[in-house]
Amino acid sequence: MTQKTATALFRPALADVPQYKPGKPPAAVDGLAPYKLSSNEHFLPAIPAVTEALTEAVNPATYPDPAAKALTTELADYVQLPQDHIAVGAGGSEIVTALAHITLEAGSEVIYPWPSFELYPQASALNGATKKPIGLTEDFSHDLWAMAQAITDNTRLIFLCSPNNPTGPAITGDEFNAFMAQVPSNVLVVLDQAYWEFCTDPSAVDGLAMLKQYGNLVLLRTFSKAHALAGFRIGYAVGHPAVIAAIRKATVPFGVTPPSQHAAIVSLRHVNQVLARAHSIAAARDEFIDALRAQGWQVPDSQANFVWLPLEEYSTAFEEACVAKSLAVRNLNSGVRISIGPPEAMARVLQVAEEFRQDHLIKQ
Ligand SMILES: Cc1ncc(COP(=O)(O)O)c(C=O)c1O
Repeated sequence: MTQKTATALFRPALADVPQYKPGKPPAAVDGLAPYKLSSNEHFLPAIPAVTEALTEAVNPATYPDPAAKALTTELADYVQLPQDHIAVGAGGSEIVTALAHITLEAGSEVIYPWPSFELYPQASALNGATKKPIGLTEDFSHDLWAMAQAITDNTRLIFLCSPNNPTGPAITGDEFNAFMAQVPSNVLVVLDQAYWEFCTDPSAVDGLAMLKQYGNLVLLRTFSKAHALAGFRIGYAVGHPAVIAAIRKATVPFGVTPPSQHAAIVSLRHVNQVLARAHSIAAARDEFIDALRAQGWQVPDSQANFVWLPLEEYSTAFEEACVAKSLAVRNLNSGVRISIGPPEAMARVLQVAEEFRQDHLIKQ
């Protein structure tokens, strides 16, 4: 089949859909332990209570509970809201695609910060919507003023990502309120909180508190990051019952498997351990940023489990310098995102960064 014949099989919108690019694995280098710092995964396994619970037998012959009742009950309890405020999905990614499905079609517009999570443009384009990526400010935060200016009568969906993947800054509560005051009530605003557990800035927006004020707000969260359950694919939305009912129509039935539901429940029951681990990653992140700044790098603030180096045209050379040391980082061309790994991995990145500055940047 020729490319032209193949294209004729599909909706025209597909031509505009970018392909998701996952983080690469580290290259093998003799004598060096490899570290994958390219996907913002937790560098530790899930907490012991979860790994112990996983040894319990499950019967794969039967479907999971489609309503994920037990997990929904646990989550509702955790966020202190009724169960009709929670929808679960196969990762936050499924929630992102469901949000695009329930709001977007040809002729509608979606606004999102850029660079940000790669799935926003992909899910939006798949629904035929017009994408309006809005560049970040000089300090790599959302340009909320420009995002508000971009709203038109056709805007149906806005993604906010706090802390922002890949750059790291969080939106403050004041910034969020000032933004929401400019958003019409018929536009759904998604506050993507995939990394909220790593956020230590007390002025960062409190998503759950904001839900009480804004009927057009929905929160997106995941078990992939702080809970260290990325392979199990569990995410959830917290929002008003009408929004949640619509999301439930757009998610795949039985998408969260029984072991995944079980693991998420156990992890939530030990959430204090999860949060304590997230805070030690946050402390390692702050130390890593301080060390990079001491070397002379301009590094944006990060409230997540990763750090952004705005390397621009040096991004690929920096990625290659990491590859040579068995470190996988995420090269997004305008910069490189480095996930926080164990201390020896971060020490090795610092060494690469120091040498890179000497070789490429300081001489200029
Ligand atoms: C900002 C953001 N939102 C949502 C997700 C979705 O994660 P998952 O589908 O693993 O829950 C990710 C994953 O990297 C992310 O970075």
